[in-house]
Amino acid sequence: DEIKEEFRPKLHFTPEKNWVNDPNGMFYYDGEYHLFYQYNPYGTKWGHMSWGHAVSTDLIKWNHLPVALEEENGVMIFSGSAVVDWNNSSGFGSGSKPAIVAIYTSYDAKTGFQHQSIAYSNDKGRTFTKYKGNPVLNIDSKEFRDPKVFWYEPEQKWIMTLALSTEHKIQFYSSKNLKDWNLMSEFGPKGVITGVWECPDLFTLKYKGKTKWVLGVNLGSGSIAGGSGLQYFIGEFDGKNFVADQSASEKSNEVNYIDYGKDFYAAVTWNGAPDKKGTKTWLGWMNNWQYANDIPTNGWRGSMSLPRKLILDKEQGKYIIRQEAVQSVENYIKSKTKLKGETLARINQKIEETDLKELTFEMAYEFEPSKISGHLEFEILNNDKSIFQLTFNKSTNEFVVKRVDNNLKDEFQSTQKITLSNNADKSINVRLFLDKNSVEVFINDGRYVFTNVIFPKDFNTKIHFSSTDDSLSKMKAITISKY
Ligand code: FRU
Repeated sequence: DEIKEEFRPKLHFTPEKNWVNDPNGMFYYDGEYHLFYQYNPYGTKWGHMSWGHAVSTDLIKWNHLPVALEEENGVMIFSGSAVVDWNNSSGFGSGSKPAIVAIYTSYDAKTGFQHQSIAYSNDKGRTFTKYKGNPVLNIDSKEFRDPKVFWYEPEQKWIMTLALSTEHKIQFYSSKNLKDWNLMSEFGPKGVITGVWECPDLFTLKYKGKTKWVLGVNLGSGSIAGGSGLQYFIGEFDGKNFVADQSASEKSNEVNYIDYGKDFYAAVTWNGAPDKKGTKTWLGWMNNWQYANDIPTNGWRGSMSLPRKLILDKEQGKYIIRQEAVQSVENYIKSKTKLKGETLARINQKIEETDLKELTFEMAYEFEPSKISGHLEFEILNNDKSIFQLTFNKSTNEFVVKRVDNNLKDEFQSTQKITLSNNADKSINVRLFLDKNSVEVFINDGRYVFTNVIFPKDFNTKIHFSSTDDSLSKMKAITISKY
């Protein structure tokens, strides 16, 4: 394939060429964030899965490195994690530097079996050696994958979360040396169990000094917007068992989704990142298995979401997670324009942006719902056709996203909705990042997020921001930041 750049984002990670899916093996060491990823070195569709590799000091600007772990003799390298073995528990360390140990699913394409294997690096993750004793965990299963390992300080041991995908169970194993693993407990089935369970992650977040445990479970299909997505559980973990909190809403089987759009999948957190105040950092693959192999880029296919901070919060007595774009993205702002109410009134209740060759910007706005009558709408038009709308409806207190692309299949067309909880006199804030092939919308400090890819053609793109009446002029400032 010839590499075409037309949809290439500026702020989001993409491989230089070929296919990418899940983020893998994310760890932080010596000032560098490492991002490995499911990669096909030989083509633009899923296949020959290997781990591609990139590093960054700020999570936005990525330095591409050679493939770190390659498919060998028909055994693919599926998703997994990586840790810094500070205490040399594995014995793979040499000299004064700790070994980096990758833990991944080895998938034998001939037999279909999925085992867990490890590989180590003595040069800061640049090159890896597969362990001779692989696999380190084998239960004769074809649906057993995506090990996420972390260090459990209180008991000085490693813990691995793994998905029994078709059984809708997460298993928890422990190890002292990353080689011998013992099953401790299981979680599930629970919540959404229509599609396979993949890429689990167990991590802590803090709310007002209180530590809670979060179990993220990626759903291959059957998520809120259709197809792939992520549900999470908040609860307690004692080093052995994870128990989800029994809130009133959980009894009514309400599911916690992290993202209400179609394109946020396989997200897992960074190990060892310098996170502040009990937060964590992660990103997801900005795609959906319903159409991932068909999106219309050339020479490369797939991208990651913006890296995001995870923040634990409470809403009506219930813990929820907010997501905010990492702050370092703002270092790339080239110009900022603030539009005030009276300016908006002068431009006829409609902002129209047509100078969008770059199509990379952020729009932030805030309004009081009591001052809106009717609706407030952000719209992207491509060749004069509407391809994306984000509408706030005053009467229903809903945000509705609509994405349309007649060149793509039915599953790509989508309407997404969230209803805000009672907030009539609380102001609502929206941050929207548009970066060529995606729109990420963060509502109320990331309480609700919609992540969606888009494919506007021919650079003929316009943005409209409008209201049914004079509501726009009553808005607080609208900021447009160009990147
Ligand atoms: C999730 C997933 C994982 C698997 C990998 C294979 O998207 O299906 O379960 O390890 O992709 O590429």
